[in-house]
Amino acid sequence: MSFQSKTPNFTDSIFTVMGKMALEHDAINLSQGFPNFPSDPVLIALVDQAMADGYNQYAPMAGDMDLRNAIEHKIESLHSHRYDPSSEITLTVGATQAIFTTIAATIRSGDEVIIFTPAYDCYAPTVELFGGKIVPIQLHPPHFNVNWDTVANNISEKTKLIIINTPHNPTGMIFSKEDMLQLQDLAVKHNLLVLSDEVYEHIIFDGEEHQSAARFPELAARSFITASFGKTFHNTGWKIGYCTAPEFLMKEFQKVHQFVVFCVNHPTQIALSTYLKDEENYLHLADFYQQKRDLFLNLMKDSRFKMIPTKGTYFQILDYSAISDSNDIEFSERLLKTHGVATIPTSVFNVGNQDFKQIRVCFAKTDATLARATAILKNISKENF
Ligand SMILES: Cc1ncc(COP(=O)(O)O)c(C=O)c1O
Repeated sequence: MSFQSKTPNFTDSIFTVMGKMALEHDAINLSQGFPNFPSDPVLIALVDQAMADGYNQYAPMAGDMDLRNAIEHKIESLHSHRYDPSSEITLTVGATQAIFTTIAATIRSGDEVIIFTPAYDCYAPTVELFGGKIVPIQLHPPHFNVNWDTVANNISEKTKLIIINTPHNPTGMIFSKEDMLQLQDLAVKHNLLVLSDEVYEHIIFDGEEHQSAARFPELAARSFITASFGKTFHNTGWKIGYCTAPEFLMKEFQKVHQFVVFCVNHPTQIALSTYLKDEENYLHLADFYQQKRDLFLNLMKDSRFKMIPTKGTYFQILDYSAISDSNDIEFSERLLKTHGVATIPTSVFNVGNQDFKQIRVCFAKTDATLARATAILKNISKENF
């Protein structure tokens, strides 16, 4: 049979490529963003219990009501905004499905969508799948701050949606209150929707506060916010997250959601509905990961890599320009194959693969793994690379 691919430009994601290469070369894997330590045994026992209690059939389409109530409570206590659990919250198969469904429910052929690059890899292909056009705005090192005049200049009659991600993967940059106010002004002025990808909401450092889109009333009134329990509770393989939006938008979201998955894994929802009620289970995440970040930076302090401490997420950017002139894909491949450490080249997240000579490492790893990886990284120099 002859078949013409609908998506000829989609290739294996960099995470698949580097993950596979890391396995082949038995490298220490600091590439993909997942922890290599277990999630809380209490949470695992709650899932076991839910299965034993018979929660093994379909969950309600929008998710278990108790869990939606717990999510509502968490958001209200942190951001003073109330989402109606019966009509404004939907459980999803990870944040990825929440992002996919948001775009599927809102983007028509020819609509323009602004994204900030470097950008997480699922935004652009999903927009293109639904005939939308990506309008990328490139952020620049060292701080990757947004210039809101540039954003304003990129808004056209066709702009439908702005996608933001704070804390930001891969740079660790966070949107300030001022950023969110500027975003709100532009979104209101031009009648834009916003997709605020907040999967690292609880991983934010140095006493900074996460500025959720939920905190800004006029922004919340036009935003889909996506979240991930995988990122928050160290179990990315469970693929469970959620989306919040005002009712008129959530209605559109659910029209698509019902035909994408209908509903999400039931026993996990039951377990999370209990676990989420105890705020101790998520409020200490920032401290936990700040210790990992500081351990990593401390172990790397005499290295030739240049680093600005990441402000959020569990990623740290390393600038290798003092070590090599290679492009970042060549650099990370050589680092993996010759030195045994897998990382992610950041150019793959940029417009036209712009290369800033930076790689991304994930420090959501045991202290022993961080010690092993940094023992290698900190000794790399121009001479021995
Ligand atoms: C910025 C960002 N958004 C979304 C996701 C996907 O989250 P999930 O695993 O819950 O689908 C990730 C995962 O790495 C991410 O980094």
